[in-house]
Amino acid sequence: MPEAPLIYFDNNATTRIDPRVLEAMLPFLGEEYGNPSSGCRLGKRAANAVRHARGQVAALLGCEPGEVVFTSGGTESDNAALASALRLNPRRRHLVTTAVEHHAILKPCEAFAAQGYEVAYVDVDGEGRLDMHEVAHKIKPDTALLSVMAANNETGVLFPLAELAELAREKGIFFHTDAVQAAGKIPLRASAMPVSYMSVSSHKIHGPKGVGALYVNRHTAWSPLLLGGGQEGGRRAGTENVPGIVGFGKAAELALASLETEAVEVAALRDAFERGARERIPGVRVNGGGAPRLPNTSNLAFDGVEAENALLLLERARVCASAGSACTAGSLQPSHVLRAMGCGRERAKASLRFSFSRFNTPAEVGQAVEILSGVIARLRREA
Ligand SMILES: Cc1ncc(COP(=O)(O)O)c(C=O)c1O
Repeated sequence: MPEAPLIYFDNNATTRIDPRVLEAMLPFLGEEYGNPSSGCRLGKRAANAVRHARGQVAALLGCEPGEVVFTSGGTESDNAALASALRLNPRRRHLVTTAVEHHAILKPCEAFAAQGYEVAYVDVDGEGRLDMHEVAHKIKPDTALLSVMAANNETGVLFPLAELAELAREKGIFFHTDAVQAAGKIPLRASAMPVSYMSVSSHKIHGPKGVGALYVNRHTAWSPLLLGGGQEGGRRAGTENVPGIVGFGKAAELALASLETEAVEVAALRDAFERGARERIPGVRVNGGGAPRLPNTSNLAFDGVEAENALLLLERARVCASAGSACTAGSLQPSHVLRAMGCGRERAKASLRFSFSRFNTPAEVGQAVEILSGVIARLRREA
C-alpha cells in the first residue's frame, strides 16, 4: 500500500522550498557559477543576481538594499549582531535580553557572561508577554544592547518591536531583534523604527537553508564578525552563497507578495486546528493563546500526556509536529520558553507545537485533528 502523504505542521522548524524558489536557484547551481567579485561576464551576472536578491530582501524587511547583509542564516546573524554591539561599546559590559529567546541568542549570551559580561534576562507572564516596565528597569547606565525577538518560535507570541526600539533609542543603546520567525508572516518595517540590527533566515520562508540576512541600520555602526575579503561592503567576508541568496531573494519576494492574504489563510488553518482540537480532545490548553501571536503557530498542552510519546505516534501516522524548539528536541528537557511562562514541568512536557504554512490545506487540518485526538486518547488510556 502506498504511504499516506505527509502532513507537515512543523513550519517553524523549517519550510518546504517553494518550487518557484527552486526554479530561480537552479541556474546558479549549474551554468551560472560565477564569483560576484570577479570581473568576468559570469562574475558580473552573479553580482547582478545578488544585487537583485538584496532588493527583494530589503523590500520584505522594509529597508534600503544597502542595509541588507547576507549571512549563513539566523544563527550567524544573531551572533554577529550581539558581537558587533558589544565590540563597539568596549566600556559597557551589560546586555539585556529575554528568557524566551532562541538558543542562537541565549548561547552567545552565556559565552559573553563567561567572558565577564553581565546579562539580564527579562521574564514573561503566563501568556508569554513582556512587561515593558521590566525591560526599562533592566537597562543600566552600562548597558550596551537590548536584544528581543520579534516573535517567539515556540508559541508565536509577538513582542512590541516599535516600543522596544523606541525604548532603546531613548536609553541610547543598540537594539537588535531576532525576526527569524516574524519575517514573511507579519509586516516588518525596519526603517520605520529605530532598530539597529534585525536577523532573518531564508529557510523559514520557503527558501533554502544556510542563508539569511542581517539588517544593519545605515545610521548604526557595525563591527564585522567574519574578516577576510571585502564582500558585503566589508561587513561580512566570504564568497557569497549565490544560489542560496538568489533563492532567499525569490522567497522574500513571494512572501511579500502574499503577506496579507497568506496571513489570513494560514490563521484560518491555525484557528480551525485549535477549534477542532478543543472540540475533540478534553484537557487542551493553548500556550500563549491570550497574547497577540503569529498567524501560523499553535502550541498546545494536552493534560497528562508526554509530548515525546505523542510525537512518535503522530510521526507513525505521518503527521509532523514538534515538542519545543527543533534544536532542543530529543534532549527531553522541558522547553525553556514554556518554563519561563510559568508552566510547570508537567505542562511543559505535555506541549506540542504545530506550525502551518501556505502549503497546508483545510483537509490536512481535519485529518490531523482526527489523528491527534486518537493519539491523545490512546496515550491517556495507556498512562
Ligand atoms: C527565533 C529563531 N532565531 C534563530 C533561529 C536560527 O536560524 P537558522 O536556522 O537560520 O540558523 C531560529 C531557527 O529555528 C529561530 O526560530
